[in-house]
Amino acid sequence: MGMTRTPLIAGNWKMNLDHLQAVALVQKLHWSLKDAQHDFESVDVTVFPPFTDLRSVQTLIDADKIPFALGAQDISTHEQGAYTGEIAGEFLAKLDCRQVIIGHSERREYHGETDEVVAAKVAAALKNGIVPVICVGETSEDLEKHGASAVPVAQLEKALEGVAAGAEIVVAYEPVWAIGSGQAATPEQAQEVCEKLREVVAAKLGDDAGQSTRVLYGGSVKSGNIASFMREPDIDGALVGGGSIKVDEFSSIIRFQKHVGV
Ligand code: PGA
Repeated sequence: MGMTRTPLIAGNWKMNLDHLQAVALVQKLHWSLKDAQHDFESVDVTVFPPFTDLRSVQTLIDADKIPFALGAQDISTHEQGAYTGEIAGEFLAKLDCRQVIIGHSERREYHGETDEVVAAKVAAALKNGIVPVICVGETSEDLEKHGASAVPVAQLEKALEGVAAGAEIVVAYEPVWAIGSGQAATPEQAQEVCEKLREVVAAKLGDDAGQSTRVLYGGSVKSGNIASFMREPDIDGALVGGGSIKVDEFSSIIRFQKHVGV
């Protein structure tokens, strides 16, 4: 049951918003939630801006005591050295990045990230005390050939190969066909896969981890459908792309507990 897991709403900004726009968005989002008398304790919120925005957002969150966590969209497999363009986990940790998105389908597709690279990035995050948000999901071809859960389950098993029991992770189930398409999975479909992913976590990291790990759904999450996903027992939150860079929309998604009639 999802009773003891604090819901997590994660905003994956992708390559959107420069550092000035980032500061404006985070400020407005905070005001919007305060205006709505949102209970900040009831939902964890993480924003994942581009690298160039991290320092500005960190400074703002710190100065204004904004109760959001900061996350990064990627991490290097290496610790430091001659890796032009890469960002080390240690640098992210120094900027108070608590989480890092790993294995997003856009990185798997456009940057050739294999399951081995994903596993190495998960190790790099954990080594630096950063929680990996491990993204898995099937393409529409995979769905036709193997059904919904086979590919995400295999991806998660590989991502967790070197992970020690007790490590804190987050899993995000993101069917590739649902990302940015406006065509979200149904809550029932998403629940079915998320339940299987939780079983993988329990098998690899132990029953306690299976119970405590947050499993998110991602792919065309909006204010109009978030509550229906959150009702499912194995869905503990959402990884939101397009809906996370609009203040009113993201504010409403975060306040899903107040939605009625969905
Ligand atoms: P979307 O993206 O919400 O725009 O579909 C989700 C994601 O890619 O994390």
